[in-house]
Amino acid sequence: MVPRPTVWLDMDPGIDDSWAIAVALSQCDVAGISTVAGNVELEHTFQNAQDVLNVLGHPEIPVFPGADGPLLEPLITAQAFHGEQGLGDYVAEPRNIPGISASTLRVWSRWAQEPIRESATHLIATGPLTNLAMGFLAFPELRSAWRSITAMCGALPGTEMDKAKEFNVYVDPHAADVVFRYGERVQMLGINVAHKALVPIRDLDRLPRYGKVGRMLAKMLNFYTIEARGEGGNPDAFPIDDVVAVAAVSYPEIFQWRELPLTVVREGPLRGTVVISPIDVKRPVVRVALDIEVEEFLIWLWQSMERYRA
Ligand code: RIB
Ligand code: CA
Repeated sequence: MVPRPTVWLDMDPGIDDSWAIAVALSQCDVAGISTVAGNVELEHTFQNAQDVLNVLGHPEIPVFPGADGPLLEPLITAQAFHGEQGLGDYVAEPRNIPGISASTLRVWSRWAQEPIRESATHLIATGPLTNLAMGFLAFPELRSAWRSITAMCGALPGTEMDKAKEFNVYVDPHAADVVFRYGERVQMLGINVAHKALVPIRDLDRLPRYGKVGRMLAKMLNFYTIEARGEGGNPDAFPIDDVVAVAAVSYPEIFQWRELPLTVVREGPLRGTVVISPIDVKRPVVRVALDIEVEEFLIWLWQSMERYRA
């Protein structure tokens, strides 16, 4: 395992994103969180990240808003999985926290400031990749600024999942292509692996051990599993894609990887399909996850929750 990597989380909380925040705080040093429109609208993802950090005991971690929609396409959201405001049946205590105004610093401008550019930070992206693409296009130096970039998106080309229209890459295929085209040290955690790391429904019985954090996650996951249960092929389990992306940085040795140059189908019936880039187009290779040791992942997952034991 990597001893407490420093990470920045770019996400669309979102229920699996919220569990990813809890696990990242346990296994990593979280430098900041940025949110993007995806599972729900930007105003909700921005508020949700702040509310979840507050329950997890880290209201001091900075949260920045990013894009309120994809680079070119209209926004598609996923309320069926995450609820109208993004956290399922969980309702945060009312707090007077700042919303997003015209003067609110957007995350790509924050990333371009000196300290971030020089840090040894791993970026973990678990929503549409719009913020990263905006950063790469506005500030080209950001393309090589990160120790690594882990994108939970797509599926390994040629697997049976590769036409599943994975949400993050389907919502903003242009942004995903910008990241694969320009990003350095990028790794892709696709649903071909994330949907192997299934959490047994019976494991949700553990949540009451974790006090208010367990109660928050139970309200989220009881909603999430209505739709997510059975995704991955086991009716008694559910995938938790974004948490697997954190494991890819914290515990990379339980994964198998392959390096490929990637591009994304951006229009038409195959929109959102990740494919191997034609060899005549010079691109950096992307490290793509091939497989995961599921039992090791589950042990790591519940060890990560121990810090919240009441
Ligand atoms: O396809 C799964 C991904 O889309 C996850 O990141 C989930 O939160 C949604 O954003
Ligand atoms: Ca997500």
